[in-house]
Order: sequence, then C-alpha cells, then structure tokens
Amino acid sequence: MLFPDYRPRRLRRNENLRRMIRETRLSVDNLVYPMFAVPGKGIKDPIASMPGQYHLSTDNLVRAAKEAAGLGIPAIMVFGLPEKKDPLGTGAYARDGIVQRAVSELKSALPDLVVITDVCLCQYTDHGHCGLLDGNEIDNDSTLEIIAKTALSHVKAGADMVAPSDMMDGRIAEIREVLDENGFTNTPVMSYAVKYCSSYYGPFREAAESAPRFGDRKTYQMDPANAIEAIREASMDVEEGADIIMVKPALPYLDIIRTIRDEIDLPVAAYNVSGEYSMIKAAQKMGWLDGEKVMMETLLGIRRAGADIILTYFAMEAARLLG
Ligand code: PBG
Ligand code: ZN
Repeated sequence: MLFPDYRPRRLRRNENLRRMIRETRLSVDNLVYPMFAVPGKGIKDPIASMPGQYHLSTDNLVRAAKEAAGLGIPAIMVFGLPEKKDPLGTGAYARDGIVQRAVSELKSALPDLVVITDVCLCQYTDHGHCGLLDGNEIDNDSTLEIIAKTALSHVKAGADMVAPSDMMDGRIAEIREVLDENGFTNTPVMSYAVKYCSSYYGPFREAAESAPRFGDRKTYQMDPANAIEAIREASMDVEEGADIIMVKPALPYLDIIRTIRDEIDLPVAAYNVSGEYSMIKAAQKMGWLDGEKVMMETLLGIRRAGADIILTYFAMEAARLLG
C-alpha cells in the first residue's frame, strides 16, 4: 500500500467517513466517578487542589450521585474522611464509619447505582500509611486482617463492590475468603493490582487528608520503572480471586494498561488520578489548552490503551458531553 495508489486521507474526508472507521469508542458505560464523603450535613466544600470536586456530606453525596446516575454513569467510587484518626485506623471498619453511612444512604436512595468503595487505611491512620506500623515499618501480615475487616464492613453496609488500594501482599485472597465466609460470594473485588508509587496522587492526598506523616509509600506501592512486575502483580491477584484488575495512574502508564489488557483475561480498569485531572484543569484555567477537548482525548487514549473501565474525576463532565 504505497502512495499514490494508497492515500490514507481518502477515509478522513468527512465526519461520517471518520465515524465509520473509528476503532475506539468512549462511552458513559466505561466511567466510574470517585467521590469524597465527609461527616456532617449540608456540606459541599470545594477541594482546592481539584477544581470541580467537593467534600460532600452524605445528603449532598446522595444528591450528586443521583445526578451521576441520571447522566448514565453506571458506578461511583466512595472515599471517606473520618472524624478521627488513630494508629490502627479503626475508623475504617467502624459500623457507623463515614463510608459505611454513605454507602447505606446511597443504596437506599439509588438501589441500581453500582457503589464501589475504596478499601484502605491511609485516611484512617494518624500516621497516614496504608498499613499498620511495626516501629517505622509498614507491617504486611497484620494489616491483612484489618483490610479484610474493612472490606466486609463496607459490603455489610451495602457496597456492591470493594476496591482495595493498600498494596499489601495477599490482600485479595484474604478479602475473598472473608467475604465468602460471610455469605457475600457474589460481591466482586476490583483490585488496585498495579498501583505505582506516584507523585500524581498529590492533589488526592490533600483532598483525602491521607499523606503519610513520615517516609513514603515506596515499600508497598510499585516502582514506576517496572513493567514486568506489573504482570506478576496482576497475575497474583487473578489467582487470589480478583474480578477486575486496575492499573493506576493511567497517563504515564498507558504501556502498562496495554500489557495488562493483552496478558490478563479479566476486565481492566485504569485510574485517571487526581494529578492527571488537576494538570488539565490548571492548564485550562491558564487558557493554555481547551480543557474539554483535552479531557475527551485523554479518556479516549486510556480506552485505546486497553482500559475497559476508567475511574475519573472527569466522569460527570464527560458524561454530559457524551449524552
Ligand atoms: C489510597 C488511595 C490513593 C488514591 C486512591 N486510593 C492515594 C495514595 O495511594 O496515596 C489516589 C487517587 C488519586 O490520586 O486520584 N490508598
Ligand atoms: Zn492507602
């Protein structure tokens, strides 16, 4: 196929032709909207580092979730900011904890909306790490029980799916076992299987008040340089019973999304994280680029890389444009 016999431009001549041969589609069906629940009533506080995102008390969270559902978004992901933190992160699995209350209100108002919960300890521990401490080290095995307990408490409150983001080894098996023992054999687990130690989480840590008080997350989150290890992490979680495999962040790891899509026969999710969102919002505010167009191109790119599902703070805005 050589010029002048073949001319690729022939099929780009108008929108209808382009539409016919388009390889990748972005649909509202692919989107999951992450939201932040806080204690109180009538609260809708803008998150400074993430323009357009809010801390919402459960009443307003339900209202916003209704809007998301109305736009056709199939699922939301709930994060919680507790009233109090302690060394053991006990707020994470409290029966009347912030996520547990948010979930039960969401499910009674919106029984069909898929409510996914982020399962981790970093919002609940006073030291801000995703696991329990042994001295200054993050102890893997003692954390597993608390993570599974947290997942179970979310599911008991009504969560349709749990998404552990702590990156402790063996947590998927532990969660699966505890859910099954308690009769929740039909509740899926979306594993943050391939989660890199990324500086793109900066705005989120401000939003979730979950920055570690000392050190960093390098002993549990993955080294950004590693790609083969991503296959190992994902395969391990498949073996342990994960139902969906997530790669996080998305943009600097599009190659990893592609690799995981090719290697793993489960649905693949990508988390378009806070920093990826805030960069576009900031450039838009400066007038340096067209925020809407860049948003859609970004989400399409993540789809093209192989993500079936995209967790994104752009979900509402994108859904409006897709609708
Ligand atoms: C908690 C968690 C984080 C994110 C999702 N769950 C932060 C972290 O690991 O430090 C990041 C989300 C984002 O940046 O949008 N473990
Ligand atoms: Zn965490």
